[in-house]
Amino acid sequence: MTASTEILFALAAILLIPLYYYFTKLRRIEKFFENFPNPPMVPILGNARDFRSGPEFFKSIYEYTRKYGKMVHMKIGPVGHVLLASDYKFLEFLLTNNNIMAKSTDMKFLEPWVGKGLATVSGGPKWKIHRRIITPAFHFKILEQFVDIFESASNILVQKLSKESGNKSVDIYLYVTRCALDVICETAMGTKVDVQNTEASLYFHSVREMCRIFLARTTSVLKRYDFIFRFTKDYEIQKKSLEVLHGYTKSVISSKRKELEETRKNGNYSDVDDLGRKKKKVFLDSLLEAAVDGQSLSDEEIREEVDTFMFGGHDTTATATSFLLYCLAQNKDVQDKVLEEQNQIFGEEKCPKVTYTNLQEMKYLENVIKEGLRLYSPVPVFGRRIDQDVEYEGKIIPKGVEILVYSHGIHMNPEYYPNPEKFDPSRFENIDGKYPFAFIPFSAGPRNCVGQKYAMLEIKSLLSKIIRNFELSPAYPRHEMILSPENVLKSLNGVRVGIKCR
Ligand code: HEM
Repeated sequence: MTASTEILFALAAILLIPLYYYFTKLRRIEKFFENFPNPPMVPILGNARDFRSGPEFFKSIYEYTRKYGKMVHMKIGPVGHVLLASDYKFLEFLLTNNNIMAKSTDMKFLEPWVGKGLATVSGGPKWKIHRRIITPAFHFKILEQFVDIFESASNILVQKLSKESGNKSVDIYLYVTRCALDVICETAMGTKVDVQNTEASLYFHSVREMCRIFLARTTSVLKRYDFIFRFTKDYEIQKKSLEVLHGYTKSVISSKRKELEETRKNGNYSDVDDLGRKKKKVFLDSLLEAAVDGQSLSDEEIREEVDTFMFGGHDTTATATSFLLYCLAQNKDVQDKVLEEQNQIFGEEKCPKVTYTNLQEMKYLENVIKEGLRLYSPVPVFGRRIDQDVEYEGKIIPKGVEILVYSHGIHMNPEYYPNPEKFDPSRFENIDGKYPFAFIPFSAGPRNCVGQKYAMLEIKSLLSKIIRNFELSPAYPRHEMILSPENVLKSLNGVRVGIKCR
């Protein structure tokens, strides 16, 4: 063999061996997917056309689940495959399995903002340590002190909404989302960004831009590739937004770190501030003080976690609260019962001092919130990636399979929720805990939502305040929401209700 033929063989091997492994892996994945029904596809694109727009995707997966069952194979382009799953037994297996912790590939588009924070990291030791450090930051003793923050932010919300009194069609989401951002900033970092009172808040604008770019990259065929994204306008917008967001978080961390070090050095810790009020321990304080097995978080890791809270903790609660207000506007009987419960707790007082215990007493409102989260789950689909072969019911799910956990699908299954389209909070009075994986707005298992209790408390606080102050009615002219699962569930034409001061 001559030297040139040897080089040719070597080159062919370098090219062919990875191709061989790629196609063998792909073949295993394709074989696995043969076990599941799939909706009609077109050549090359498969079912990719269903992903063209959010509303179309939302409608298609609902129809497919009704027509083809609780485990549906969808093909995206020539080589992509996903399993759309809303089967009870499978979800229980998937969500409780300690070997299936990796998030879907698209979560990497969040990394420029939140790095490898709790929501994006693919399980493993880093996730475990961070989860152990972060979980105590959501202890009820800490949540208890947030009630005042919820109160003061919702007081501003009430002031703003009062100006809309008599308006028969208000997009409530625009108001609630600003309030939710104020709340998360103050509870996560202890600072007031006051976006409710600052029309052109750069911080608010940057958060919105980063959420938009995340969505744009998950749905674009081209922007998903870094080498193409670098040449787009969104890349420049992202750079500027990150300067604002990271700059802000870093400066807050640095001043809190200094404060903590001074306190430790001087030993002059006081739990009251200069005005004699009890100091609040916010998430950032917990993260700075925390250490597990002698390991603490670096400033960069803390920055990632605080930014993760900023991303995961405001749009979700804003969406949930807005859709719940919409449901209450449409269902006068439920709204009246919520008000009745409020009156039982607070009497006729319009501006009582609300306590953590008061919020715990709102049992009917709790069921109303659960029903809203069932019908309009803020995270109606979320992803899991199989990163090592696992066995399910005697069959191997091969490494590389991507799964879409379709929580909205199981929430709309009449086996668990008769007449599922109906908004009926009373169904939660009779649920006996027999089917915990049929109610998964916060996911379930080890990677469930760490902010679940915080979210329920905040939503309760906002709703109770609004219902005590306003009477809600269906918007006029009639408003049909166009639902789209973006980074959270959104209504593309707003969440409109009529509003009147009580
Ligand atoms: C109604 C409000 C909320 C809903 C419906 C919700 C829903 C979810 C869901 C479905 C997941 C799992 C996602 C997945 O596996 O891909 C999740 C994870 C997470 N959520 Fe929430 N969430 C809410 C509020 C919050 C709040 C207020 C915070 C923080 C303050 C938060 C922080 C997180 C974090 C850090 C994770 C990742 C946990 C981990 O992987 O260990 N969430 N959330």
